[in-house]
Amino acid sequence: MNKLAIFQLSDQEFNKLRQLIHKKAGISMSDAKRSLVAGRLRKRLVALDLSSYDEYITFLKKDEQAGTGEIQRFIDLLTTNETWFFREERHFEFLKNHIKALPISKEVKIWSAASSSGEEAYSIAMTLAEEMGLSSPWQIFGTDISSEILAKAKKGVYMKSKIRGLPPTLKKKYMLNGVRTYEDYLAIAPELKRKTQFKQFNLFDSPLPTVKFDFIFCRNVLIYFNQEDKQKVIHRLVSCLKTGGYFFPGHSESLHGLYDKLKTVEPSVYQKIN
Ligand SMILES: C[S@@+](CC[C@H](N)C(=O)[O-])C[C@H]1O[C@@H](n2cnc3c(N)ncnc32)[C@H](O)[C@@H]1O
Repeated sequence: MNKLAIFQLSDQEFNKLRQLIHKKAGISMSDAKRSLVAGRLRKRLVALDLSSYDEYITFLKKDEQAGTGEIQRFIDLLTTNETWFFREERHFEFLKNHIKALPISKEVKIWSAASSSGEEAYSIAMTLAEEMGLSSPWQIFGTDISSEILAKAKKGVYMKSKIRGLPPTLKKKYMLNGVRTYEDYLAIAPELKRKTQFKQFNLFDSPLPTVKFDFIFCRNVLIYFNQEDKQKVIHRLVSCLKTGGYFFPGHSESLHGLYDKLKTVEPSVYQKIN
């Protein structure tokens, strides 16, 4: 019999696992996520030769002390990393119109605070490169909790057939064609990569950057947090935003009433006020 077929996730095990992902990443899992959790973790049970989710929970608890990296793998498996270039395009239009009005010598710092595999950060970089050129003093920071997805972002190599949302002119200008074993891939051009840095960062408890940003993108991640956690994350991120700077949540993530230092400029565009 296929070993995969015998794993059953009990209520108690599901509750322990969702408490753990909430503690580690702030992600709140509803009852509807039960089969997703079971499915995504099943391969770890097989790889570790465990016979139940309960054994896996014990293994994770030991890892909290020993630090063998299993907790990180657990987080990598339970985060949803879907993203694409120029997702929710209106934010990029807003950014472009703002950047246009700035002198090209102006330093601009932008944070993509749940960057996933990097498409968001590189879309911001392309927007700035188009408006300010590559030699102006702008910089993009991309961060994410998942080490696996960050490795992909740092690499900046994307399968041609999976690239979505990238206008052909920008693709031609800022991406390089892979050769030989990489012929099905495109790579972000080195001059754009040099302007973009990636680092691991947990929105809840990683030490905050000391620099202040002009724009912060924190899109399509707040939906995974409960109201109290969402508020905590917004307070932390907005403390890193310059007064007058802009905060972009995802289009379906309203911040209404969550923080009086944020003024709504237009739907899903907020500005930090004094
Ligand atoms: C759906 S992706 C969104 C990517 C991109 N911002 C976009 O809108 O296309 C959500 C990302 O949030 C990250 N994430 C989840 N919890 C996090 C946390 N506590 N701290 C930092 N990143 C987190 C996940 O790893 C995932 O890559």
